[in-house]
Parts: sequence; structure tokens; C-alpha cells
Amino acid sequence: MDEIRKGLENVIALETSIAFIDGEQGILKYRGHDINDLSKLSYYEVSHLLVKGSLPDGRELEDYSNELKQERFIPSDAMAVLSSCNFNIEAMDALRTTISYLSHCDSDMNGNSSEENIRKGMRMIAKFPVIVAMFYRIKTGQEIVEADTSMSHGANFLYMLRGERPSDLEAEIIEKDFILSAEHELNPSTFASRLATSTLTDIYSAIIAGVCTLKGPLHGGARMAVMEMLDEVGSVENAGLYVADKVNLHEKLMGFGHRVYKTYDPRARIYKELARQIAAEKGDLSWFEIAESIEKAAFKEFVENKGKTIYPNVDFYSAVVYKYLEIPPKLATAVFAIGRISGWIAHCLEQYSDNRVIRPRAKFVEI
Ligand code: CMC
Repeated sequence: MDEIRKGLENVIALETSIAFIDGEQGILKYRGHDINDLSKLSYYEVSHLLVKGSLPDGRELEDYSNELKQERFIPSDAMAVLSSCNFNIEAMDALRTTISYLSHCDSDMNGNSSEENIRKGMRMIAKFPVIVAMFYRIKTGQEIVEADTSMSHGANFLYMLRGERPSDLEAEIIEKDFILSAEHELNPSTFASRLATSTLTDIYSAIIAGVCTLKGPLHGGARMAVMEMLDEVGSVENAGLYVADKVNLHEKLMGFGHRVYKTYDPRARIYKELARQIAAEKGDLSWFEIAESIEKAAFKEFVENKGKTIYPNVDFYSAVVYKYLEIPPKLATAVFAIGRISGWIAHCLEQYSDNRVIRPRAKFVEI
């Protein structure tokens, strides 16, 4: 049997035309388009690129946007399921449960053609932010806010979450957040979705596998952990000691390190600039400055002292952005999922289109 690479590190499991990553140079492209260029578009343009395979022209974008906007609601029976969730659960659990229930209500549930899967996928893209916002409003005892179809995907999410319209910059930044979170090749949740798809299960089940996998603290859960870390550090002065303690205790510093990037994550660079912009608009640089001090202390510990290639990853400055957008830490992973769903759908469609069941082997060891 071949060499076993723990965690499947650097194992090429399949071919894809959805994402390209150069982890040494810090390059990320979705279907050939650099992430720096894509971050200047709207989420629906990038979602169309991922799901339908190309950037939309004006007419295609209008059709795609209208279809998604019409799906910005949750049927009353699914609302009842959401309302009856045990409120010790968190947003990712509510998302999983509600998406599972919604599959029962979908008229395309029993079809597995590409057209049916795109329709089901688009319904999930439209409903993810609605579920997360409604869950939060119910959980915090606030009135539910109905969707506003005149707003962008991101602006409507913030509106439904907070009950008031976001500023133009906030609306622009949450759209960019969804774009930067939308796709990242064979990350654990995408691999889980593709693995499920390869059994020819339905696309709802495959997406639920992705949701369950994103939740873990070594994956999407890191964003919440970074938000909590910023609170814990609390001031620029504490950053050095906090990082040194983590290193001495051999604990992971959340929001740092990456399996693929051995340089600065290109998404982290864009998020850092967004964090700077929103901090300036709010007239409060404190969270940004605390994060920068953590980054500086981490660079000294990891790169200068230990010669390791551990830099901020996507979850580090996105958490700073969420602080300024006043997204509660416990929603952070679910907000990540709102962006990532377009990537998951793209990978499910690619897997269905050229499928062979994914079934590796294990080496038996006697203990
Ligand atoms: N803090 C301290 N040390 C680290 C960190 C970190 N954040 N990341 C890696 N290392 C060290 C690790 O201790 C190990 O050292 P040694 O070789 O001396 O034992 C070495 O670097 C390799 O680490 P690893 O955990 O074996 O690397 P991996 O490729 O298995 O894991 C990772 C990658 C992202 C899970 C890991 O870097 C990590 O746990 N980071 C913190 C959690 C986090 O921010 N996760 C978000 C990941 S990016 C977005 C996403 O996928 O959702």
C-alpha cells in the first residue's frame, strides 16, 4: 500500500475547474478569475460564476438576481421548525436542521438532473441568510424582519439581522465577505459535500454534510474563536504576552496557519484592508489595532523566531470585520456558510457531472 499522508496532506484527490490555489505565491482564482478582481464584484455575479460556470452578462445577472430574491423567504411550516429549535443550539445547528426540513418541501426533491440541482442549490443560496437572520431574531426575542428584495444579498442579510438598513460601506463589505468566503477548492467542508455527492445522494444531503463539517473549530469555527480572542486580548498592550503564552503552552493561535498557504493568505490581505476601511468609518480603530498587534507578535514568534510559515488565514481579519459589523461571535461560522454555499453547490454539480464514488482505503493495524 502507498505511503499514508496524515490528514491527506498534499494528496490530489480529483480534478476541478472551479478553484486554483498557489499556496507558495498566495494566489487564489475562481474559474480563472483572480480573487482580487472578484472582490470588486457583487456576490450574485460571483455566485453565478461558480454555479453556472461564467460571469453573467447584464441580462443573466438580472435573471439570476431576480430568481434568488424571490426565494428570500421561509415557508411557515419551516418557520415553525426553526422556532421550535432548542435554543441551546447555535446558528449552524439551526441551519442544518432547517435546510434538512426545507428539503422535504422542495418540489424538485426527487429529481437529480442538473437543472433540478441548480434550482435546489439556488433556493439554498437564497435561504441561508434568511434562516441565520431569523434564527438570531427569534433567539434574542426580537421581531422577525421580512426580506427586502430591493437590497443586495449582503445588505438584506444585515437588514434582516439588525432590523435597520446597513450603511453603504457595511453593505459593500458584507458582499465582499460572502465573495471571499465563497470557494476554496478541497477544503474539508467542500470535500465532505463532494464525498456525499459521489454516492449520488441528493444535493440537500450533500450540502448538510458541508454545513456539519464547516462547523468545526479547525475549519469555519475558527472565525468565532478569533472574535473571542480579540475580546480576550482586549488591548494592544496585551497582544505580545497573549501570543507568547499560546506558543509556550503549544496551543494553536486561531486565525493563523493553513494547510495550503505557506505565505500570506490572499483573502486575509483583502480582509485586512476591509477591516481598516470599516474601522475608519466607525471612528474606532481599536479592534483593528489589537488585531495588527497580534499579527505582529505572531510574525515575531512563528516566522522570525521559529522559521515557520504561519501567517494570518481567512478567519483572522474577517473576524475583525465581523466585530465592526456587530455580527455576534456565535453567528460567525453561519455567516461564513452563507458565502460558502455557492462554492459547495458548484462542487456538487461538478461531482455529479463526472462521478465515481469516492472510496479510499485504510491500512489495518493491530492494537
Ligand atoms: N498556531 C500555532 N501553531 C500552529 C498554528 C497555529 N495557528 N498552525 C499551525 N501551527 C504549527 C503546528 O503546531 C505544527 O507545528 P509542529 O510541526 O512544530 O508540530 C505546524 O505548525 C503544522 O501544523 P498542523 O496543525 O499540523 O497543520 P495542518 O496543516 O494540519 O493544519 C490548520 C492547518 C489551519 C488546521 C492549522 O494551522 C490550525 O489549526 N490553525 C488554527 C485554526 C484556524 O485558524 N483554522 C482556520 C483554517 S483556514 C480557513 C478554513 O479552512 O476554514
